[in-house]
Amino acid sequence: MSPVRAVSGPAELARDAADEVLLHGERALELRGIFHLALSGGSTPRATYAELARRARAPRGRALDSSRWRFWFADERCGAPDDPASNYRLVRETLFEPAGIPESCVRRMRGEDDPERAAEDYARALSRELGSPPRIDLVLLGLGADGHTASLFPGSPALEERERPVVAVPAPAGDLPRLTLTLPVLDAARAVLFLVTGAEKAAALRRALRASGTEEAPPAARVRPRDGEVLWLADRAALGSGGDG
Ligand code: 6PG
Repeated sequence: MSPVRAVSGPAELARDAADEVLLHGERALELRGIFHLALSGGSTPRATYAELARRARAPRGRALDSSRWRFWFADERCGAPDDPASNYRLVRETLFEPAGIPESCVRRMRGEDDPERAAEDYARALSRELGSPPRIDLVLLGLGADGHTASLFPGSPALEERERPVVAVPAPAGDLPRLTLTLPVLDAARAVLFLVTGAEKAAALRRALRASGTEEAPPAARVRPRDGEVLWLADRAALGSGGDG
């Protein structure tokens, strides 16, 4: 079973997640001189991004020496970068702008382009900077109540992708289509950190943690880095009882 760290609630989760990001960042800078971090959207990581921005502004905030950080995305909505649903916009507002992170450090998925072309362009950018398969130092992921992670939804053919590191996928009803990293990239990561809060995630979390990673497992449970660490940071509400899953 994957390692789980319980925290009291969303505030502690944000602090712990920021600590983890900085720790992985320091380690990557020491070993390789650059830190590649992939970010997710959704509401859960907002507080973590805000916490990272706060630390970057703190007088002793040199841990976030962003000039040697590269910010990638685990997924994106196919829409303009200023669309309210855009993951890039979320991170720009909560982290990039407040922390003064220059655009040159940001590798955004171009949701406004033709989705197939945007997926290919992102795959090229990944292999140019990180080789093939690309080894991202740390990927921050969330968990949907249906067990999805990034934009890998239950039953999606994208879950069976073995070659392409990025694909375009249809979205759940009424939502914008998405671009998402695929399992081969997530499984090549040096570390993956899941952030999960709230009772509405309890059943999905229980299913994900007890799943074996087989094809029937929830998408989040199928992320199994071959040579990397996985940590689930979850608050008490998400770890509590919430239906029998
Ligand atoms: C996104 C995500 C997605 C998210 C989960 C959980 O862009 O929406 O990458 O996988 O992490 O849906 O979302 P919440 O944090 O909003 O519950």
